[in-house]
Amino acid sequence: MIGIIGGTGIYEIVEMGDGIETSVIETPYGESPEINVFKLHNKDVAFMPRHAKGHVNPPHMINYRANIYAMKKIGVEMIIATNAVGSLELDIKPGDFMVPHDFLDFTKLRQSTFYDTKTVHIDITEPYCHNLRDNLISSGEVVENGVYVCTEGPRFETAAEISMFKKLGGSVVGMTGIPEAILARELEICYASICMVSNYAASISPTKLTIKEVFDIVEGKKEDLVRLIYDAISRTPAERECPCKYALLGAEVDEV
Ligand code: HPA
Repeated sequence: MIGIIGGTGIYEIVEMGDGIETSVIETPYGESPEINVFKLHNKDVAFMPRHAKGHVNPPHMINYRANIYAMKKIGVEMIIATNAVGSLELDIKPGDFMVPHDFLDFTKLRQSTFYDTKTVHIDITEPYCHNLRDNLISSGEVVENGVYVCTEGPRFETAAEISMFKKLGGSVVGMTGIPEAILARELEICYASICMVSNYAASISPTKLTIKEVFDIVEGKKEDLVRLIYDAISRTPAERECPCKYALLGAEVDEV
């Protein structure tokens, strides 16, 4: 099954599917948001609204472990995530899509592992699934590479923080991409993200950041985003041919 974890603005993809069924999944970490399962291109697809219905959970309060665990439990093997981001580079403009190839994690308070009672160190050298990224890149007009910086939020960044992120090699900044990518790898699920650039980041933007500009851009681009995901789903292979499915191999510390 293919999972979509949607941020703001892509609930429309569900309406393109057939035989929609809705469920809430129980997990050891709490309940998932409502998940819609449907058929698209004759494939099983599960859509999860990351912030839960009505956008009630802000980024730092999302139950990332429940979300990813629920996807695994219903049989999801690959996840396409969408994330709104601010751009750190003038050439990556509001309205652009970017498929990140790496991330910098500046979150502070999030539960970012499933392994609290045994020692597991997964390899995350290449954190996003190579094949799923290639698929997204082939499905629409996107910026093909970039480093996603994840902050704790919910505030936007200071000018000094943005300057630091740029120096460290960041391309875009958002609040929701981590720990999702890490947790998916820990459960051997392929994961890639389409970042939707909703604004220039603080200090790169000439004006004060408002949530209205973020939502206005997202609203304007949502048809393109839905189309990109729709096409990407048509290209997913029946069998995975990437190392993601073996992520736990060699990652566990044996008990002594
Ligand atoms: N910063 C952090 N998160 C964001 C931004 C931003 O500028 N835009 C959309 N999500």
